[in-house]
Amino acid sequence: MQENRARCALITGASQGLGRALAEECAGRGMDLVLVALPQTGLADVARILARAYAVRIETIEADLTDPKTPPAIEARMRTKGYAVDTLINNAGVGFTSRFAQSSEEQNEATVQLNVVGLVRMTQQILPSLQRQRHAWILNVASLGAYFPMPSMPVYSSTKSFVLTFSQVLRAELRSSGIRVSVLCPNGIRTNRSTRELIARQGWAGRVTCKYPDEVARAAVAGLFRGKALIVPGAVNRALVRASPLVPRGLYMSVIARRWGTAESPSGALPPTAPRTAASPA
Ligand SMILES: NC(=O)c1ccc[n+]([C@@H]2O[C@H](COP(=O)([O-])OP(=O)(O)OC[C@H]3O[C@@H](n4cnc5c(N)ncnc54)[C@H](OP(=O)(O)O)[C@@H]3O)[C@@H](O)[C@H]2O)c1
Repeated sequence: MQENRARCALITGASQGLGRALAEECAGRGMDLVLVALPQTGLADVARILARAYAVRIETIEADLTDPKTPPAIEARMRTKGYAVDTLINNAGVGFTSRFAQSSEEQNEATVQLNVVGLVRMTQQILPSLQRQRHAWILNVASLGAYFPMPSMPVYSSTKSFVLTFSQVLRAELRSSGIRVSVLCPNGIRTNRSTRELIARQGWAGRVTCKYPDEVARAAVAGLFRGKALIVPGAVNRALVRASPLVPRGLYMSVIARRWGTAESPSGALPPTAPRTAASPA
């Protein structure tokens, strides 16, 4: 219904993985883009490719979203360059695989700072601009891990539960303002190398439930502009969400631990200086 009205999307974490696919999906709909990622990670190349392929205007901002100065700087750039953002996609997120006892303070805080604090700050900073638009949309990227607490990813899956709850409340609060809020809860996505390796090790279970970034992006953007509250790509994954209240926690945690191969050993732990996105359960 509101599908064709969106004009300009601000997408965080757009240099690779799901964020890049979301950028392409929006550009394919003729939307201008403001793309954000860390410095020197190929964001300018992504912008060049998309601008040429889809003839849209693209602004890139290379900045760390865990820095409190970043959201105001992004908003200022949008204003001075004349980007009337009507769609905010909070996609940037990191995670790592380790039991809590073996994890470092640095890993845990980096995960909370980006997945929770950074997302809230971005939303708060951009909300007034969205409120000035006739119609606006917010898509927050959570994970199926919001429904299924993940052994060996205690902090990551908790941050995604936060994103789910925050999005649901925001949707209710903004209902009358013309801003639609959706939350995306994907199972594993074949994005960065560590996630692709984890998915490949799962055999048929990975093949049935995990997806490619462009599939998830297509479902996400279509669901967002249809005004869906919760977007879970894949019929099997939607069935898992429906079943989640019925399955005893101990049972599914041991299934998840076996499937992602993380419960008994912290060997999958990534270096504390490089927390990366971890995939989701089930
Ligand atoms: N992959 C999965 O299986 C899966 C499953 C469920 C949910 N998700 C969620 O989907 C989202 C995208 O995941 P992904 O797998 O596509 O991740 P990814 O391939 O690791 O990409 C993450 C993106 O976030 C950016 N980023 C990381 N830290 C940042 C920071 N401090 N400031 C600014 N940008 C930063 C990265 O930029 P650089 O390139 O500059 O590092 C990159 O563009 C995340 O929220 C993740 O939790 C992923």
